[in-house]
Amino acid sequence: MYSLLSHNTFGIEAQAARFVEYHSEDELKRMAAGGLFKERPYFCIGAGSNVLFTRPCYDWTFLHSAIRGVEVTREDADHVEVRVGSGEVWDEFVQTCVIRGWYGVENLSLIPGEVGASAVQNIGAYGAEAKDVIVSVETMDVDGRRRVYDVSECGYGYRTSIFKRADMKNVFVLYVTFRLDKHPHFKLDYGNLRQELGGEEVTLVRVRRAVIDIRQRKLPDPAVQGNAGSFFVNPVIPRTLYEELQASYPQIPHYDVDDVRVKVPAGWLIEQAGWKGRRMGPVAVHDKQALVLVNLGGATGADVVRLADAVRQDVAGKFGIEIRPEVNFL
Ligand code: EPU
Repeated sequence: MYSLLSHNTFGIEAQAARFVEYHSEDELKRMAAGGLFKERPYFCIGAGSNVLFTRPCYDWTFLHSAIRGVEVTREDADHVEVRVGSGEVWDEFVQTCVIRGWYGVENLSLIPGEVGASAVQNIGAYGAEAKDVIVSVETMDVDGRRRVYDVSECGYGYRTSIFKRADMKNVFVLYVTFRLDKHPHFKLDYGNLRQELGGEEVTLVRVRRAVIDIRQRKLPDPAVQGNAGSFFVNPVIPRTLYEELQASYPQIPHYDVDDVRVKVPAGWLIEQAGWKGRRMGPVAVHDKQALVLVNLGGATGADVVRLADAVRQDVAGKFGIEIRPEVNFL
């Protein structure tokens, strides 16, 4: 058996029958031809920053991409296209872009995880999303068949894509190609980002620094306290329900989705339901950002599920809103 402890940022102990890495497209093809995926169930894992192991033991093969590399594939006076290995650490890629003067991913600084998962999950923060800069996603399936998905074929939405569908579990990401701007193009209107920058001249390095500072203040460092970032997605609710709530809670924050729908922050709902900072056995709701559940030490997946259920029930009871996990339960 293989311990998955270092493969999940929640810091939960679980065992796997097998753990295999592929370093290249050819290696993955050989694994497929050798029948690896016929042996037992399989699951492709990135850095484990968005998964929750709910069982102590998996009779599965866990597959991890170790494909590295950041290669410029196209460049003109205004843009650059870079093809990045799915096993590259996301924040190292962001740092490379900032150093090279490529605009577009700086708001996504310090998001844990790897490049492959950024395209599966459509990671987002401070008004930017991975889909805004993705050109295409190169994949291989369990039969060794290659397919390139243009961004328009990826079905991107808020924290979702076709790669998250159950029938796409047999598809693994090899490379993601991003298109970045060579001229300044900042998104600063989300939350307190502009305020964080103060009156200083806005540069790529300063935006990255400001995002890192905000995240470090609010979000627990997984190396210190196990967690998987936002545990829930922000619910999208009918505008009529939002207006009813606003009558009782004039301070309720919201983002407009369209004429009839509004997104409300799950963190706010959880805080109002009295859960911020509350502990339940070895797990707790983070005291600085209620959207994050933390492992206080030695928690099991079942402990986290119990806390998540209690939080969901109270939010539903108080506001009539179902909040859904963002984290992938395994
Ligand atoms: N809020 C509270 N109490 C809380 C947390 C938040 O009242 O405990 C309020 C804040 O005051 C603010 C609003 O809720 O008015 C939004 O809070 P915040 O800006 O912290 O963002 P979020 O909606 O809670 C989302 C993403 C984060 C991302 C931030 C910044 C989701 C599920 N989460 O959180 O993403 O970093 O916006 O863009 O959309 C992640 O996905 O793991 C993640 C951390």
